[in-house]
Amino acid sequence: MAKSLEVIARPAQLRERVMQWRRKGERIAFVPTMGNLHAGHGSLVSRAAQLAEHVIVSVFVNPLQFGPNEDFAAYPRTPQDDQNLLRSLHVEVLFAPEVDDIYPRGQETTARVHVPGLEDILCGAFRPGHFMGVATVVTKLLNLVQPDVAVFGEKDFQQLMIIRRAAIDLCMPVEIVGVETTREPDGLAMSSRNRYLLPEQRAVAPHIFAALDRARQAIESGATDYAALEQAGTEALKEAGFRVDYFAIRDANTLQMPNGDSSDLVVLTAARIGRARLIDNVRARRPPAK
Ligand code: PAF
Repeated sequence: MAKSLEVIARPAQLRERVMQWRRKGERIAFVPTMGNLHAGHGSLVSRAAQLAEHVIVSVFVNPLQFGPNEDFAAYPRTPQDDQNLLRSLHVEVLFAPEVDDIYPRGQETTARVHVPGLEDILCGAFRPGHFMGVATVVTKLLNLVQPDVAVFGEKDFQQLMIIRRAAIDLCMPVEIVGVETTREPDGLAMSSRNRYLLPEQRAVAPHIFAALDRARQAIESGATDYAALEQAGTEALKEAGFRVDYFAIRDANTLQMPNGDSSDLVVLTAARIGRARLIDNVRARRPPAK
């Protein structure tokens, strides 16, 4: 029988719903989002549905992860479309709290989660406090929902790594699952922020994936001068019209610079065009030494 979508705003009500399922020994999968849902979120929900009997999706635009000059106020909010998509995906519960439900004593004085070593590099260097805000809200949401498994997109590779680390270090009894990035036919990673692109900016946006994929191919063909590959990627994106925050090749297990033992690499970039700051990444396997 098709399940109908229950929209819950209050944490206490959510806990009650979760308790009913837990008492019956049923598994719960959780997909935290900031809404403006698209096919990328759809693939997270589909994965979640394979992993548990019940799927809970949250929509909460978390002010704590936005800097003072960032797009918190402008972030696209499309509650009706989100609900329609979740209904079509047979999601049972949408948790859509207000800011006061999540930060009842205000954001300034709330306890915070930091992941030193990972939160200040790459995107963290350009968005101070961002990953503290992400790690804090995800910890709060995981504590509220108490899922068996939580599902996140690999497009936000650094975010996924920070959440995995926080879950392990803080002994959270949850499995964190990453899902491959969903792309448009021309390679552009799906993102709510693609909405900010004007038609001429949308036309050049696929250069991001193309530059990442060129670096991947070079690594997989044996190139080891990573600084030169990073430089070439940065230049290609600048020529296409982007302002490049970083184009970096890192060890996929640590996010540190690759060393002689690193065989699982990740090429990551963040680049701005118009109002949009786009991020993307691809994995690259370094060929074994001959
Ligand atoms: O990736 C996102 O949409 C957000 O950063 C998350 C994980 C829902 C936390 O607000």
